[in-house]
Amino acid sequence: MKGTILVNNLTRLMAKDEVTYSHSLRLGSMAKIMANHLRFDEEQKENLIIGCCLHDYGKIFTPEKILHKESALTSKEWEIMKRHPVIGARLLILENVEQEIIDVVKYHHERIDGKGYPYGLKGDEIPNYSKICSIIDSYDSMVSNRVYRKGLTPLQAREELMKHSGTQFDEFYVREFVSIPQDRLESRDKIALRR
Ligand SMILES: [Fe+2]
Repeated sequence: MKGTILVNNLTRLMAKDEVTYSHSLRLGSMAKIMANHLRFDEEQKENLIIGCCLHDYGKIFTPEKILHKESALTSKEWEIMKRHPVIGARLLILENVEQEIIDVVKYHHERIDGKGYPYGLKGDEIPNYSKICSIIDSYDSMVSNRVYRKGLTPLQAREELMKHSGTQFDEFYVREFVSIPQDRLESRDKIALRR
């Protein structure tokens, strides 16, 4: 059931935007590594992986000219882009997906200091899986090349996570993530290289 929803929704995302689709697959791969590192049980692991794979699912309703824009977004375009966590969560509610998975999607852009979106939640108001998703989402974005910039090295990206630990990111989960040896994150890098 969960597997079918995951495949169907990822297929929709792939049809809409291949960059977001491959980013989502890499997040699923890193979520698995993080869940194993944190010794999650099978159900916890499954929910974290599915939540991370579908974190940007709401972007299927983001206009393509905004999704693929290579220059800075205008404030109006940015407001539209920022709707994707709520849209994704609403779509998954309609499919009777578990609340833990929906929460990853809904809160993955919240920040520990309350400066995130869409709700401005602070600290432990943010669910743990969303805190993890935020870290691996940012890591993947930082190390990925974009048309307008070259990605950071894995070491630089880890330093950025640590620099913003306690403000943007949860301190405990950043510490755990950066303690994972780089070679264990290799599966993520292999997916990235196929892009
Ligand atoms: Fe997102």
